[in-house]
Amino acid sequence: MSKGQIVLGALAPHPPHLVYAENPPQNEPRAECGWEELRWGYERLRRSLAAVEHDVVIVHSPHWRTHVGHHALACPRFEGLSVDPVFPNLFRYRYALDVDVELARAIVDEGRAEGLEMRPMENPRFRVDYGTIISCHMTDPTWSRPIVALSSNGAFFYYSDDVGQAEMIALGRATRRAVEATGRRAVLLASNSLSHRHFTEEPQLPEDMTHEHIYHHGQYLWDMHVLRLMREGRSRELIDAMPDFIEQAVSECKAGCLTWLLAALDFPEYPAEVHAYGSVIGTGNAVVEWNPARAGQPAAPGSAP
Ligand SMILES: [Fe+2]
Repeated sequence: MSKGQIVLGALAPHPPHLVYAENPPQNEPRAECGWEELRWGYERLRRSLAAVEHDVVIVHSPHWRTHVGHHALACPRFEGLSVDPVFPNLFRYRYALDVDVELARAIVDEGRAEGLEMRPMENPRFRVDYGTIISCHMTDPTWSRPIVALSSNGAFFYYSDDVGQAEMIALGRATRRAVEATGRRAVLLASNSLSHRHFTEEPQLPEDMTHEHIYHHGQYLWDMHVLRLMREGRSRELIDAMPDFIEQAVSECKAGCLTWLLAALDFPEYPAEVHAYGSVIGTGNAVVEWNPARAGQPAAPGSAP
């Protein structure tokens, strides 16, 4: 078997509004429009993906929170109805997805070798979280590849940001080794938003974009700083800044997805491509691609932000 590799990584946020606005047949509610900038960013990510041969998508989602250790979906197929608990008016989605169980088990084994508490999720009636479903749907609406979904351990919340960071970096290393050992060509998705300050009242028409904007300039400045670090290939600095970002921008990076992704990519020094940035209920969201084919390319000097 030839050595596997991570062929592309992406920050692929999961606001249910994006699926709602796309009106796919799996989702019951219907929308007129909305959040086009982010949805068109996802279209650009899909075009990149179409040019990259891959066997599997691995996703790390904030909304499969596990209290003890890290879990991985490990049944061949999961089906059900996913309802967003905060926005049931926007997201009632019938899903049916296939899992690469061999790879899931390899990640569990490699995580254990890192000293992590790891478990395969072997209950076929387990309800897959909406973060996993939305990131996967927006990246590939046809669900053309099997997935591996990883839970978000709550170490950031129960211990500290430092403990959480260490756990996610170890999980990233384990993921990378499992991909290589199983010969997979894997796409990795980190499902979190960036800044995460919500509005508190939903407009009568959810897709009324006159209400959609970031609500705190400090949050915006943090998002721009983080995107600059990504675009300039400064992912080690981004890892170092993560605890401050999490605290000061109430960032959803506290779920660990982005740290896991950067670690799995071995802290890329090549420039990431930002396909889109936009707000959803006031939170900052970016669709960002790390393509190892760009390794060695310098960031554009003076690129902004
Ligand atoms: Fe979320």
